[in-house]
Amino acid sequence: LRNFPLFEQLDDEYLTEISKLCSKRVYTKGESIFLEGDEGDELYLVISGVIQIYQDNHSRDVVLSIFREGDFFGEMALLQNERVRSASARTIEKSTLCILKKRHFIPLVNSKPEILIGILGTALDRLRDANKLIMDLTIHDVRTRIARMLLRLTEQHGVPSADGILIDLKLTHQQLADMTGTARETVTKLLLELQNEQLIRNDQRKIIVCNLDGLRNILDVN
Ligand code: CMP
Repeated sequence: LRNFPLFEQLDDEYLTEISKLCSKRVYTKGESIFLEGDEGDELYLVISGVIQIYQDNHSRDVVLSIFREGDFFGEMALLQNERVRSASARTIEKSTLCILKKRHFIPLVNSKPEILIGILGTALDRLRDANKLIMDLTIHDVRTRIARMLLRLTEQHGVPSADGILIDLKLTHQQLADMTGTARETVTKLLLELQNEQLIRNDQRKIIVCNLDGLRNILDVN
């Protein structure tokens, strides 16, 4: 739990108390954690793996966010009485989650309000991201949306590599399409275009951003 930004200010003794209240659950790749509309009384902390938050729009998924080690989710249904899960969650890699029940969570935040402030801060960051996404979908063309998504993934999941910044996620073109409100074929075409312009390298499911400024320029000109 020490690796969770949410708990970074807590002392070891307190963390041990919290860990006693948590249960650990292992999910296989592609497993559903919960569905939009479900009732929810659990908070999830990601110990390892990759989780996708999405809404299912009959014909295709809309991906809202991707979470990994150190992230948490499921706080909305937990904190808003009578409200159900606002989106669905599934693993896109084998994942281990730490689960905190509402009956344990509420006394915890009552005794340590800084945890609640941390959750609120993260939720507000997510609102800012969602606002950007609305702007993107409303105003920008697909090329700009894909450039912005690659920049966001670089910020959140980037690791330095020999020829640039590797986005440390294995995402299919369909998953990238679901994150940018477009079709898989369009993603394939545009990634190839960006590769030909030497802004990125994409082989298999690996994306390396080779020219960060070049990618940012796409946002400036649109
Ligand atoms: P909850 O509504 O309980 O279940 C779905 C979870 O997904 C939600 O809590 C949040 O933790 C997370 N979530 C919902 N919408 C977004 C979003 N737009 N960006 C990031 N995370 C989200």
